[in-house]
Amino acid sequence: MPLESLFDVRGHVAFVTGAASGLGLAMAEVLAENGAIVTLADVNASNLDAAVSKLRSAGCEVDSTVVDVRDAGRVQEAIAAVAAKHGRLDTVFANAGISAGFGYNVASGQLDAIALSDWENVLKVNLTGVFVTLQAAASHMKARRTGRIIVTASISGMRSEVISGYAYVATKAAVINLVRHAAMELAPFNVLVNAIAPGFFYTNLGGGRLRADPQLAARFAGEVPLGRIGQSDEIKGLALFLASPASSYITGALIPIDGGVTAQ
Ligand code: NAI
Repeated sequence: MPLESLFDVRGHVAFVTGAASGLGLAMAEVLAENGAIVTLADVNASNLDAAVSKLRSAGCEVDSTVVDVRDAGRVQEAIAAVAAKHGRLDTVFANAGISAGFGYNVASGQLDAIALSDWENVLKVNLTGVFVTLQAAASHMKARRTGRIIVTASISGMRSEVISGYAYVATKAAVINLVRHAAMELAPFNVLVNAIAPGFFYTNLGGGRLRADPQLAARFAGEVPLGRIGQSDEIKGLALFLASPASSYITGALIPIDGGVTAQ
């Protein structure tokens, strides 16, 4: 199969949550840059506007919609609107996620300091938000017997990670098994569900802690076999692969993209 066909997403219809920044923006960009029709969904309206203007001025076919993934009805409505407008829905990235603050190496990240309300808010975004996105995507994809759902987990869902808060590691572990379970149910419908597990990337997560603190970044880069923090553009190859014909036999997988961290 020639390269262009293997990775051909031209005319595909895609929906990306958390698309106004960081990894989600890079996922939306790579699909749009390669001819997909992409709807960027995010809770941050001004960042969405900026992202959409930039992509449109580069000739991409993109739309945006303000969605808070904590609002299940709104997620369903936004995904249904995209499917109705284009008559198809090929790829959904359930990517929106938030930090749960510091890990246990800082007092505010220790068990006795964590407020239940903070724990529950992270669960609403990182776990229930992913679940409702998956539910809405699946209902449209099953009917057409084709589709790709890609969930952004984290290496913090695979092991204890000192930089991450309790609710973060718990929700990221949960979505990994959620992906496997949904992949089994949806396999007979040719709807492929996969998780990616990024390592340390420079994004705005947790207020852009790694970018703002070069010492912290250097410390974490030291734990990465490739010796550096990832740039969000480095998610693009994997995102395109999982949305394209090249990955047609991959489902229920967890793919780390971490510079080698979890291989150690
Ligand atoms: P980011 O903060 O740059 O982007 C996250 C986007 O999600 C933001 O635009 C934000 O407005 C949006 N968002 C937050 N809450 C939302 C909600 N309730 N509804 C809709 N949108 C919402 O962060 P990043 O790093 O790009 O995060 C994307 C995903 O990658 C998250 O799931 C995160 O947990 C995951 N991840 C990030 C890593 C990193 O090192 N940056 C490592 C592993 C996973």
